[in-house]
Amino acid sequence: MNGKKQPIYPVEPWSVTETSFDTGCNYRNETAFSLSNGYIGTRGTFEEGYDFPENTGLEGNYINGFYESAEIRYGEWNFGFPERSQSLLNLPNLKTTRIFLGGEAFDMRKGVIRDYRRTLDMRSGILTRSLIWESPGGKRARVETQRFVSLAVKHIMVQRVFVTPLNFDGEVRILSVLDADVENHTRAANPLVDYGPFGRTLVPDEISAENDTLFYAGHTANSGMKTACGCFHKLTGAKIAESYETDGLSCRVEYVFQGAATMEKFIVYASSLDSSEDGLSGFARGVLEKAANDGYDALSEEQKARVRSFWETADVEIDGDDAIQQGLRFNLFHLMQSANRDGNAGMGAKGLSGEGYEGHYFWDTEIYVLPVFTHTFPDITKSLLDYRFNTLDAARLRARELGHGKGALYPWRTINGFECSAYLPLGTAQYHINADIAYAFSQYVKVAGDTDYLKEKAAEVLCETARVWADVGCFSEARGGKYCICSVTGPDEYTALVDNNFYTNLMAYGNLWDAADAVRWLEKNDGDAFRALTEKIELSPDEPKQWEKIASEMYLPFDEKEQVYLQDDGFLLRKPWDDSLIPPEKRRLLYENYHPLFIWRQRMAKQADTVLAMLLHSEYFDRETIERHYDYYGKVTLHHSSLSKCVFGIIASLIGKREEAYRCFNESARMDIDDYHGNFYAGIHTANMAGSWLSVVYGFAGLNTGGGKLKLSPFLPEAWRGYRFRLSFGGRRFEISVKKSGCFVRQLSGEPLDITIYGKIYRLDGEGDFIKCANTE
Ligand code: BGC
Repeated sequence: MNGKKQPIYPVEPWSVTETSFDTGCNYRNETAFSLSNGYIGTRGTFEEGYDFPENTGLEGNYINGFYESAEIRYGEWNFGFPERSQSLLNLPNLKTTRIFLGGEAFDMRKGVIRDYRRTLDMRSGILTRSLIWESPGGKRARVETQRFVSLAVKHIMVQRVFVTPLNFDGEVRILSVLDADVENHTRAANPLVDYGPFGRTLVPDEISAENDTLFYAGHTANSGMKTACGCFHKLTGAKIAESYETDGLSCRVEYVFQGAATMEKFIVYASSLDSSEDGLSGFARGVLEKAANDGYDALSEEQKARVRSFWETADVEIDGDDAIQQGLRFNLFHLMQSANRDGNAGMGAKGLSGEGYEGHYFWDTEIYVLPVFTHTFPDITKSLLDYRFNTLDAARLRARELGHGKGALYPWRTINGFECSAYLPLGTAQYHINADIAYAFSQYVKVAGDTDYLKEKAAEVLCETARVWADVGCFSEARGGKYCICSVTGPDEYTALVDNNFYTNLMAYGNLWDAADAVRWLEKNDGDAFRALTEKIELSPDEPKQWEKIASEMYLPFDEKEQVYLQDDGFLLRKPWDDSLIPPEKRRLLYENYHPLFIWRQRMAKQADTVLAMLLHSEYFDRETIERHYDYYGKVTLHHSSLSKCVFGIIASLIGKREEAYRCFNESARMDIDDYHGNFYAGIHTANMAGSWLSVVYGFAGLNTGGGKLKLSPFLPEAWRGYRFRLSFGGRRFEISVKKSGCFVRQLSGEPLDITIYGKIYRLDGEGDFIKCANTE
């Protein structure tokens, strides 16, 4: 686990290439080659539409926010347990394009394949495949495919297929299929889930094949959502016939050519999430028609331009390690793809790349992913925060269910804004998500300097989340009158339902202060906004004072002997953990092999917990304190979650343990591309992907924006000649470049600003101005 893995794909700075077709690696490669634009997601399956067994592949096509629900069956039910599940629903597949050379179907499992390459070009955002196939009957043809999910038109995906006969004259047939007989692979992707959805739950309302178009409209059996999808074909070649066929769950069009053929397929997906239900089919047909009129070339040029502009803003260039370069870009590319941009949906822990975690949104987005966007594309952060704002009413209802008379409690797992985690100890008990979301709102406002957003949305979220903290605990005599919070689960999922989790209490502290500060700021700077907020949420003048009192009296468990903050009250009471007592094959799968009580009674942690709190609130701790906690928790943290190593790595950078920092970073940068956790088939790990960016920018470059100031203290990892990235802060943009000869900061846009480098203040006077510090520390 700690050793460096051999790269799975050839090391290339801008692409990921599969050089041979191997069904054994297919499931994983489908995730690596998944494409998305934050609205549509499609797995990297083949155009031929293979019927691979369930553990070898998953044809998956999704719309962010589009889910099916089922009744959650509990052995024993309690009040407030979520009653209905939410699972990102697998939608009709429109990618299938079968090719026939005369009577023989193109099938990579048969015949001979030569010159095979499948490449995700991260510079263009286009996935291509090319090969020469010789059929069992001896016919040879070149097959080339191209595919992208449009970043410019969110409902559109495009595919192009070229077939060139090499040793025969005669018919080439292309069959394009719309297949609505689809279902989720719940058992394979989420083996612990028992409520489904099982079987097909999308009910067809309309299905048709005519005029070069295949079209489907349907609704979910249970969640009340509607979708419409379809495709339109454009053909080049000597077409000699075409025919259409429709049955209840699929429809097809077949084109017959004399010789070489090209098919362009424009695919649309739309849903009742973003179009009125009545007009949905018309809306989808309209978008499809426009895309087809614009044409493949125009759409692909637009795609390239979008991706280019993404890299111009967000690329991190590494001089000196191509494998790291590739891993980082792979991570950033998938993050860029996964982010919803319309405020109607959030971002799944696995993006839209697979069905792992049922497509649910967790705290991964707010604590790991949003800092990346806040510093590169603040508008993306804003859309993802909008989704949380838009689901505030659901969080208010949830707070009432949990017995809180006021305020809002965000769900641990959700798609539609309501809690759907069926396992209380590792679900709703993770109250920290409330403070995590508040933290993200607050960070965005501070870093982007967006006080309008504070007035319009952030202040309300801060106050409503703070109200739950003000109600959930009490000033306890048993802890010297300090404010205590009991029966919660912190980030570490190997302990549950603990008292005074340090992370939770510290994040609640931040939430309470931020809420009180927001109210005071509004009162001072914008009387109308202040009145509107206090009326809307019936805020009494005493509440902010009470929040401040609670925050100042917040209890943080501390052990005098060890001189460390304890992860929770019971941390030292638990049995010391001995990994050697666990057989190696069971070590990373504790919940699959041991009773939860056995796990919770051990003094160890699945993932960064206390040290993460210290990183997020580093302003309260000196370097020596952070180092002590890094050493202490480093010994008991198993890193069984992908959210862990990167946090330890960033802290290692901050306390000068550069080799350890680099080791953690190396694993974080290549975690998915090299499948370190062995579960990449179920989807990408967005939090860690973001963690690799944070490791460079917060870790190596030492970015700190505490107190509303931009501070850097960069170092250069020994293995590198240099690195360079761009950063947004306070409506301004900067380029930071760190080399052996020093650190350079160039202002790319915006008003003048003072920035601090290695503790010294420098003035940047606007666009084009730059600073050069001769030595890195
Ligand atoms: C981690 C959580 C995380 C979830 C989704 C779990 O394994 O323990 O912290 O939110 O995965 O990524």
